[in-house]
Parts: sequence; C-alpha cells; structure tokens
Amino acid sequence: MNAGKYRRILAIESSCDDTACAIVEDGRRVLASVIDSQLDVHARYGGVIPELAARSHVHSVNAVVAEALKQAGMSLADMDAIASTLGPGLLGSLLVGANTAKTLSLLANKPFLGVNHLKAHVASNYLESDLEPPFIGLLVSGGHTQLLQVNAYDDICIVGETLDDAVGEVYDKLAREMGLGFPGGAVLDKLAQAGNAKAFALPVARTKNTYDYSFSGLKTAVLKVWRTEAAPYLSTQTPVPLQLVQDISASFQATVVKTLMRKLRQLSEETDVKTLTLAGGVSANSALRQAFLDLDADGFRIHIPAMRFCTDNAAMVGASAYFNPLSENQLNIDVFSR
Ligand code: KG4
Ligand code: ZN
Repeated sequence: MNAGKYRRILAIESSCDDTACAIVEDGRRVLASVIDSQLDVHARYGGVIPELAARSHVHSVNAVVAEALKQAGMSLADMDAIASTLGPGLLGSLLVGANTAKTLSLLANKPFLGVNHLKAHVASNYLESDLEPPFIGLLVSGGHTQLLQVNAYDDICIVGETLDDAVGEVYDKLAREMGLGFPGGAVLDKLAQAGNAKAFALPVARTKNTYDYSFSGLKTAVLKVWRTEAAPYLSTQTPVPLQLVQDISASFQATVVKTLMRKLRQLSEETDVKTLTLAGGVSANSALRQAFLDLDADGFRIHIPAMRFCTDNAAMVGASAYFNPLSENQLNIDVFSR
C-alpha cells in the first residue's frame, strides 16, 4: 500500500457517535481537528442508538468538514487525498463518512483512502510525536481491548484480545447500572480518583491464551457488590452515599488497570520490546495513564496520545491514512466489502 504517498490529507471519522474531520500533514502534524459529539442525542437512551447516530452524522458532516477547512485556512484543492474510516463501526454511521469522503474525492479529483478504525486509534500515537515502530500497543476502547505487537507501520499483530466485554463497555455498563449516565467512563474515572481502591476485593480473570483478557467476570463481581451494598439505600429511595460509590469505582478501576498492565508488561518482557503505547477511548483514563507514566521509571519508553486524540477523532484517521491505508482510490470498496 502507498504509505506516505500523500502528504496532506483531509480525514473523516463517523464510525460511532462522533462526527469528525481533520487535516493532517505527513501523518503527524494536525492542521485542523473538529469533533461534533452526539452525546446529548444518545444520553437519554443510556447507549448509542444506531439509526439516530446515522441521522446525526448526515446532519453534521458538511458543517464539520467546512469548519476543518476553515480552521486550516485551506480549500479542498490544497489537499493531496481524502480519507475516511471504513470500519469497524456502525454501518449506517460509517456509510455517511465514507460516502462524504468519496464524493469530496470525486469533486476535487483527489485520491480516496479507506482507513481501519482500530489502526487509526493506534496511529493516534504518531500525532504530534516522532514515535516509530516497533512498539507494543494496548488498545482499549468502547468496543475493543487488544494487545498489539506493532512491528512496522503496516505490520500489526494482535497478540491478545478480550474474550468478552471490552474495557470501555464495562465502564459504560457499570455506570448505567449505578445511575451515572452514558457514556460512563469519564464519570466513573472521576469518582474512582476520590475512592479507596482497596475497599472491595475483585477478581482478576485467568485466560487460556496468556495475552487474552476477560472482563465479564469482573463486571458481574462489581455489579454484585453494587447491588448488595446499595440495596438498603435504593429500597428506601435514599441517595447512595458518595463514599460508597467512590470506593466501588476505585476498586473496579484499580483491578482493570492491574489486569491490563500485568499482561502488557509480560509481553514486553517476553518480546524485549520496551516501547509501550496506549490508544482508544479508555486511554483517557487517569489511573491507566498514571500506570503507564510509572513504567517510565522502570526503564520502559512509553507513549500516550494527547487527551484530544484518545476518544474518537479524525486526526487519527488522517495519521492512519498516511501510514497504513486500507485501500486507495477504490471507490467501490465500502463499509460492506471491507
Ligand atoms: O475509542 P472510543 O472513543 O470509541 C470507540 O471506538 O469505542 O472509546 C469510547 C469509550 C467509552 O466506553 C468511554 O466510556 C470510554 O471510552 N472512556 C473512558 C474514559 N473516557 C472515555 N473509560 C475510562 N476512563 C475514562 N476517563
Ligand atoms: Zn474508537
């Protein structure tokens, strides 16, 4: 694939509930990055409603593209290529971004580049940095949890992944059950910071493949603690004490971080690859970021994307379109045949 062929790329991301457009140069310099979040559209349903997500993308995408061009002070003629995420994600949502990008590519007579959303999260580490492979990547998002060996820009091996729930998914499910709203990751993280991580003993799952993860047992254990401890309050319609909510959140968060970091460290030691990176929405998590920073003192080289590149954004799509695009100029490749 033609990595590095097109220097200035306009990229669109619409795989879930963020409509985003960015302009990225050489896969690293972000000239513009605009994100229109649909949080308020889905919050009241406690989860992303695919049909509403697709309609919201249709509503926002042109304005988001126009805003990115305005931010960069450029026009489509200044671009070398147009890119969009082709998957994985919600089909209706992906179609909006992909068809917008293809239309712009035909209009402006620029090549179209398709991008994989997970490779894009990994590529968020290249933004505003000089990181180069090889490295080990921990990808933790709302839909995926993977341990990756990144040997070269386009040589990424999945060494392990979750056998059930993704980490972000567990955060969101617990937060919903605890009445903390959707998405729950950032809220639970904030509560955890003020809690006692040793308040409740929670299980770390074992898996057959050393590097796979499993989080559904932990989810069930936390739900059990919540239901037992909160029951007396909920049954009398009394507010659950904040300290209890904070302690449950902190115990859960500490277990997640311990589980994630243990296998990451083990893989690094086994492969002798000492550069470690973090990616995906959960990389915004304070405890996980701190655990990574702590590794620095142990002789590892660590890289964490800036907060604005952790959750879904289009700058990471621009980086991936530069370093490891899926397809070039195949306007017939779409979200169904990817
Ligand atoms: O990567 P992303 O924006 O979308 C997917 O591709 O899935 O990740 C969204 C996920 C959600 O599950 C959200 O709750 C979680 O990232 N998240 C967090 C934090 N911020 C976002 N999880 C834990 N702590 C956070 N601070
Ligand atoms: Zn994502």
